[in-house]
Amino acid sequence: MKLTRTLTAMAMASMMAVSLVACGGGSSASDTTAAAADQPGGATEAAAQAAGGAEAAAPEGGTIGVCIYKFDDAFMTTYRNALQEILEGKGYTVTFMDGKNDQAEQNNQINNFIAQGVDALIINPVMTSAADQIIATVKDANIPTVLINREPTADQMSAYDKLVYVGCDARQSGTMQGELILDTENKGDINGDGKVSYIMIQGDPENVDAQYRTEFSVKALTDAGMEVEELDLQRGDWDRNKGQEIAQNDLAKFGDEIEVIFCNNDDMAIGALQAIQAAGRTVNKDIYLVGVDALDAALNEVVNGNMTGTVLNDAVGQAEGAVEAMEALLGGKTYAAGEQSIYVDYVKVTPENAADFQ
Ligand code: GAL
Repeated sequence: MKLTRTLTAMAMASMMAVSLVACGGGSSASDTTAAAADQPGGATEAAAQAAGGAEAAAPEGGTIGVCIYKFDDAFMTTYRNALQEILEGKGYTVTFMDGKNDQAEQNNQINNFIAQGVDALIINPVMTSAADQIIATVKDANIPTVLINREPTADQMSAYDKLVYVGCDARQSGTMQGELILDTENKGDINGDGKVSYIMIQGDPENVDAQYRTEFSVKALTDAGMEVEELDLQRGDWDRNKGQEIAQNDLAKFGDEIEVIFCNNDDMAIGALQAIQAAGRTVNKDIYLVGVDALDAALNEVVNGNMTGTVLNDAVGQAEGAVEAMEALLGGKTYAAGEQSIYVDYVKVTPENAADFQ
C-alpha cells in the first residue's frame, strides 16, 4: 500500500516530465519517453529470479512498446502510469500507444512496433477474440510479449512460449462483491421480502472480467443461501456516463424494488451513484452499491459511506508483475503451456480499510 502511494506520487512526477519530452518527439507514438539508459537497476536481478536463475540476464535498457486498448479508461490510466514509472525507473525507452478501442488500429500499432525492432511488447488487447491473431503476429516476429488485463485462454497462449499473461482472476473480484453485500446488516435484503433484488451494470461483455464479475457476485449470494432477483442487466462498457444512464433509467422504472446495484467497475459505480443521489436514495440505508478497481474517487465514496464497498484491482502489483515477466522473457526464459498466466490477488475494500489504499 505504501508502495502504491509512492508509485502514484512518482508516476505523477514522471507524467509531468513525460509531457515535456512528448512535445518535442517526432515519432508516431501517442506518448513517447526516452529514459536514461545507463541504469537499468534491478532488471537483471529480477529477471534472473523470475527465470529461476537458469537463463541469461536481461539486456540493460532496451526499447519497449506498450499497446493499451484505449487511453480513455479510468483503471487502465492508473495501470499505464504505473507501467511507465516502473519501466522508466529501470532505464527502458518506452512508447505507449492508444488503441482507441479499435482492434484494427491496435494491429497496426503492433506491426509498427515490430517494424521498429522493439525488444519486447506489453499488450492490453482491444478484443480477447483477436488473441489468436495477436499471438501469431508476435510469434512470427519472435518478440517476447506480455499480455495484460484481458486474458486469452490457456490454449490460445500455448501457441507461443515467449508469451505470458499477467492479470487477476476475475472470479475472485465477483465473489468479493457478493461478500460485501452479505456483510451488510440485512445481507442485501433491505425490504425483508426474502430476496435480494438487484440490477447489474456490466462492463464490456466480450471481456472475461465482465463475465466473471457478473456471474460470481451473484453466485456468492446464492451460495450463501440467499434468493436473488435480477431486475435488469445492461452493458455499460466500463464507462461512467453509461453507468449513470442505466442506473437513472432503472431507478425510474423499478424504484424502491432495487436493493443492490452491482457494477463491474468503479467508474460505472460512480456514475450510478450520481443517479442514486439524483433519485433521492441513500446508499447503505435504502440501497447498496458496489464496484471494482478501488479508483481514488471510489475510495473517497467508500470512506464517506456513499458506496458500500469496492475491490482493489491492483494496478501497481500487475504492472510490477508484467515488467518482471517481461524481464524474465528478455533474459531468455520460456513458459510452458498451462503456466503462462500470472495472477495478482484482489483485495476487498470496506470503510474500515479504504484509507489504507488512498
Ligand atoms: C478491468 C477494470 C475495468 C476496465 C477493464 C478494461 O479489469 O476493472 O475498470 O479497466 O479492466 O479491460
